[in-house]
Amino acid sequence: MLARYEKNAGKMKGENMEQHKERLQKVIAHSGVTSRRKAETMIEEGHVKVNGETVTTLGVKVTPSDRVEVDGVELTKETRVYYLLYKPRGVISAVSDDKGRKVVTDLLPFVEQRVYPVGRLDYDTSGLLLLTNDGELAQLMMHPSYEMDKVYVAKIKGVPTKSELQQFKRGIKSEGEVLKAVNTNIISINKEKQQSIIEVTLHEGKNRQVRRMFEALNYPVMKLKRERYGFLSLRGMTSGDFRELTPHEVKQLRAHALDQHK
Ligand code: URA
Repeated sequence: MLARYEKNAGKMKGENMEQHKERLQKVIAHSGVTSRRKAETMIEEGHVKVNGETVTTLGVKVTPSDRVEVDGVELTKETRVYYLLYKPRGVISAVSDDKGRKVVTDLLPFVEQRVYPVGRLDYDTSGLLLLTNDGELAQLMMHPSYEMDKVYVAKIKGVPTKSELQQFKRGIKSEGEVLKAVNTNIISINKEKQQSIIEVTLHEGKNRQVRRMFEALNYPVMKLKRERYGFLSLRGMTSGDFRELTPHEVKQLRAHALDQHK
């Protein structure tokens, strides 16, 4: 079932936390063991281990894949959940932002589990983003060797030639990296306005990859949207909508990820 959370109703999170990580005392408190304040004391008194190592300082942050024990008892793992979000433009792909800007988890406020985005879309990019608290699957999917078609639609300034777009497949040099697309497709060209809409399929997920590839050929990207992630699409959704993945979809993602890491 589709859901959406109306814009601006979400609470902005201003704590300065790294992407995907949360403070150990918060994680302990969330699991229902004790209050956050008492969890801090328990950490300082040496009751808490992370991945087998005793932690006595309060700055430590953990991800859902870290094993946390309190007095030798492992915290109960949250039920694993998987969401597909149609990320709007103007939202950060993170669980918190130190500048208080809206983050993607603000769009799923009724989700109790500590989900975080699998990879990222730029602040100004819209489209398909997966969120989960399944650290193992997320790590497999974010590994550089993981190959899955990611299909973007870019509205660009200018009209590239077919041979320029061929370069995308051979690789484009940008900031000391070679960026490659697996496919490109011209959707439409407006010669009068000197604008084009181009579909680009990537396997890689390098920082601002689509924008950098077009910019390298002097075609600034005006709008960018991720339409597809492997077999998952935004069909039937509008910006801000989200839905849970079906068990079958999760199975397919896991099977694909494990296949790639054989
Ligand atoms: N490429 C980009 O340039 N930005 C994104 O958000 C995703 C891919």
